[in-house]
Amino acid sequence: MQTKTLVTRWLPNEVIEKLQTVSRVTMWPEVDQPISREFLLREIEDADAVLSMLTDQIDTICMENAKKLRIIANMAVGYDNIDVREARARGIHISITPDILNETTADLAFGLLLSVARRIPESSVFLRQGKWHSWSPFLLAGQDVFGATLGIVGMGRIGEGVARRARGFAMRILYHNRTRREDVEERLGVSYQTFDELFRLSDFLVVLTPLTSQTHHLIGERELNLMKPTASIINVSRGSVVDEQALYTALFQKKIYGAGLDVFEQEPIAKNHPLLGLDNVVALPHIGSASIATRTRMAMLAAENICAVLTDRNPITPIV
Ligand code: DGY
Repeated sequence: MQTKTLVTRWLPNEVIEKLQTVSRVTMWPEVDQPISREFLLREIEDADAVLSMLTDQIDTICMENAKKLRIIANMAVGYDNIDVREARARGIHISITPDILNETTADLAFGLLLSVARRIPESSVFLRQGKWHSWSPFLLAGQDVFGATLGIVGMGRIGEGVARRARGFAMRILYHNRTRREDVEERLGVSYQTFDELFRLSDFLVVLTPLTSQTHHLIGERELNLMKPTASIINVSRGSVVDEQALYTALFQKKIYGAGLDVFEQEPIAKNHPLLGLDNVVALPHIGSASIATRTRMAMLAAENICAVLTDRNPITPIV
């Protein structure tokens, strides 16, 4: 075959077979280890396509090395790991895997919300450590989800999924978005709030806004100070949307009730990171879209985007 695709992490056979219908494939063989920079820079040199992960920095140096690159197909909906301006200047397509992960990610956001509110992981650890000596009226008592106020920061399709789930819990649902979503307001009975009001009113604040230069540390000390002491924050977007130092302080000083975090400023988060020492934090290793079915579909869609571009068509799901 004339063309070459670089796959930056081990992916199942069906995905590789799909790519092989148009291209020869070089794959980084590790499942749990990101591609080494050296391997990436070497193998991207003569690649026509790269199927990348959110752990790969596809930056200027990378693109300067890539003499033939036509598409960066990121297996994620976020693409803050890619230098978009550089890719655009070089006429390289960027595709992502939107929509197919909405429901899976909304499930996890809601799971985190319930876990924080009802202290589920903490209670499980308590029991396993042999600390359960008697039923007691306020033992591990948490916050009610049913009937509480949910605030969604960033009302995209994942936000809609979270709102639909929240309706089942009779929650009052508020949101803030760059552009008002009257269609969603009508369809799902959610109300638009100013950014600050959303922080003041919410019992659970779910962060879903993508990471851009405008949303870096969008939520910091000022915003956390607006929250109720009984309120919790759930982040399934990108760690750097929240100022982690300010979040730690707010949680440590009990200015807010809890946090459910699937994402961190530095991933993987260090074992001794101060946030992990707090009982009111539920922390997960960036598994928002990690169901077997969804991750397989994401990998397949990334492969389909590559197939499209390498056969002179437009990508199916380009960034907009
Ligand atoms: C994404 O697709 O950006 C998610 O964070 C992956 O789980």
